[in-house]
Amino acid sequence: MPQDTPSNDTLHVRDSRTGQELALPITNDTVPAMGLRQLKVQDDDFGMLSYDPAFKNTVSCTSRITFIDGGRGILEYRGYPIEQLAERASFEEVIWCLLEGDLPSRGQLDEFHAELSGYQAISDTVAKTLAGFPRDAHPMSMLMALVVAAGAQEPDARNVRDPAERRAQAKKLVARMPVLAAHVWRHRKGLAPVTPDPSLSYAGNFLRMVFAESDDYTVDPVLEKAMDVLFTLHGDHEQNCSTSTMRVVGSAEASPYNAAAASIAALSGPLHGGANEAVLKLLASIGSVEAIPAFMEKVRNREAKLMGFGHRVYKSYDPRARILGQIAHDVFELTGRNPLLDIAVELERIALAEDYFKSRNLYPNVDFYSGLIYQSMGFEPEYFTVLFAIGRMPGWVSQWDELMGDSEQKIARPRQVYLGERQRTVAPVDER
Ligand code: SDX
Repeated sequence: MPQDTPSNDTLHVRDSRTGQELALPITNDTVPAMGLRQLKVQDDDFGMLSYDPAFKNTVSCTSRITFIDGGRGILEYRGYPIEQLAERASFEEVIWCLLEGDLPSRGQLDEFHAELSGYQAISDTVAKTLAGFPRDAHPMSMLMALVVAAGAQEPDARNVRDPAERRAQAKKLVARMPVLAAHVWRHRKGLAPVTPDPSLSYAGNFLRMVFAESDDYTVDPVLEKAMDVLFTLHGDHEQNCSTSTMRVVGSAEASPYNAAAASIAALSGPLHGGANEAVLKLLASIGSVEAIPAFMEKVRNREAKLMGFGHRVYKSYDPRARILGQIAHDVFELTGRNPLLDIAVELERIALAEDYFKSRNLYPNVDFYSGLIYQSMGFEPEYFTVLFAIGRMPGWVSQWDELMGDSEQKIARPRQVYLGERQRTVAPVDER
């Protein structure tokens, strides 16, 4: 039962097959699904279950990390509104906040930066793993492999029941993600990796590891700020597909490196984090503002999806998409306006006026504009979701740590309704 405000509210159900009546306690507007198992026709029945494909109406856990109000477009990390975090806190402050539950003091932040910097050396297992990939392999596949390879240098990471070890490994994963991601970028370009620079911010160090062509490379402060805020916007998002993957794999007491690799796999899907790459390819394929009406006809006929639109939780404008608008302005001021922006803005204008989208509460999500910004910063579409993964790692490891400390949790193992054939006879192969 989710611990919170006790209440005497109950949900009364009556099983018309037997007349059995049940009073299920209501807590936080939920009822315990296990309570349904009391409903049986025969005494030796397993008992009733709830059917919920894709878990659309299922609460898998209680959490104190991220709050989303999808109807009002509200997103808070540990109670802090995303708008204030994006404006007033660095990504390292946000990482600390997600992990520790509050924002760090100046002293804590300085210590944290030094600690993360100390974790950024990686073993040559990573380099050897990367060398085995062709340069044009998808960056998300390479990133998955490198996270697992990085775990090879951390045998203690499997001590998942030790809270101190969990916290240490969480910080190591967060610290190493930009290094691994930069290694992937440099490998694709046939360039040697760049050594991390602890004197730079988390975002600045990442940009330098990716783009530096000489020792005197300096990070542009506009791009550093944009990267920092983009990481913050992707920090956590409660029980989305990839975070649920982290929790499911973590529930088996697997190493957090292996769970994180599984989460990267989930994130790579175009319906999830891979949407930012899909949006850019869609905008390029539409090609011009004049071609938008023909594309929208395809959407109405369900021959195409407007990638970057829609969300399982937000039935209003994704608050992160709003913040991206200001970042886009600042980046394009520096880099020049992304020519695909005109198509994106016109697509959004038409979609928001279109009954097909309005009737389905379809609004731009975090992926609709982020790719345009990434591209103007110098990243290629195939790499966009790697940037999402760097930002999301603090969320994944914070949710994993919370799961491992939750006494109500066990290994995840949903049930099924079997509709297939039963008790068939196996004939010898020559008689089939
Ligand atoms: C992320 O969960 C999270 O929090 C995720 C995320 C995070 O931070 O972790 O926010 C990041 O993944 C954002 C979403 C990125 N994905 C995309 O932009 C891909 C395009 N969007 C869709 O595939 C879709 O909107 C989803 C997957 C995001 C949500 O899908 P749902 O909730 O399962 O909704 P659905 O597919 O059942 O759609 C409901 C209706 C359907 O029409 P009908 O069958 O009712 O007639 O809306 C239509 C859908 O066809 N629809 C779309 C659409 N999204 C939904 N039609 C056209 N274009 C779209 N993008």
